[in-house]
Amino acid sequence: MAATFNCFVTGTDTEIGKTMISTALLHALVQQGVRAAAIKSVAAGATPIQTSEGQVWHNDDADALAQAANVVLPRELATPYLLNEACAPHVSAELQGVAIDIAHIKSCYAQVREMADAVVVEGVGGFRVPLSDHADTADLAQELALPVIMVVGLRLGCLNHALLTADAIAARGLKLVGWVANTVDAAMPFAEDNVEALRARLSAPLLGCVPRLSAPLPAAAASYLDFSCLPNWPQA
Ligand SMILES: Nc1ncnc2c1ncn2[C@@H]1O[C@H](COP(=O)(O)OP(=O)(O)OP(=O)(O)O)[C@@H](O)[C@H]1O
Ligand SMILES: [Mg+2]
Repeated sequence: MAATFNCFVTGTDTEIGKTMISTALLHALVQQGVRAAAIKSVAAGATPIQTSEGQVWHNDDADALAQAANVVLPRELATPYLLNEACAPHVSAELQGVAIDIAHIKSCYAQVREMADAVVVEGVGGFRVPLSDHADTADLAQELALPVIMVVGLRLGCLNHALLTADAIAARGLKLVGWVANTVDAAMPFAEDNVEALRARLSAPLLGCVPRLSAPLPAAAASYLDFSCLPNWPQA
């Protein structure tokens, strides 16, 4: 049977906690006793690691997601595009002579859906990051037609970024099913007021506020989040 809980995790920017919140989601799904899988749709930034089978290219996000999931996927499904250079995905792809094709990511997702009860797909950067001359991550999310979870990196400027992202998600006919306030800048003044400002303006539920963690591990982040309001969230 195909996975019943699926989501696309986007964020207000790059480096604001999408992977950490995705691993928290996966941790919670595994706790619920379901087979949880993760896809890093486009990974830009890889390092070679020497193994007994030769050199293997690794991406930190893909590794963190795989570690938090309990379904072991072939690398080519878990990371449909693994690009070496850590830069804008369309630039990284061009440097490598690769054309990012959303249909390929969609096909990987369709296969993973058959292998798990729940699939978490992490986007790349923010919601409108270009993937090629013709497409960006909003097109990817639209093609996958998944409910969207938005991670808001709490720092000055996040209100504008979060509201624009929510508008862009709605403009694609997608449903924002929940959002997370993640503390990127522990020294941000009036952080709670910012969360309240978003709570008042976003119709989707706030899944929780994650403080700055000394060890940003999936279980620690998950302890601040309540995913039970998400559509099709598995019941233990
Ligand atoms: N609440 C937090 N407390 C402590 N560290 C955090 C927290 N949130 C994120 N981090 C750390 O910040 C860094 C960026 O987070 P993360 O990799 O999840 O961001 P991202 O949005 O997925 O980035 P990218 O755009 O590269 O995919 C990571 O090292 C992560 O462990
Ligand atoms: Mg990430």
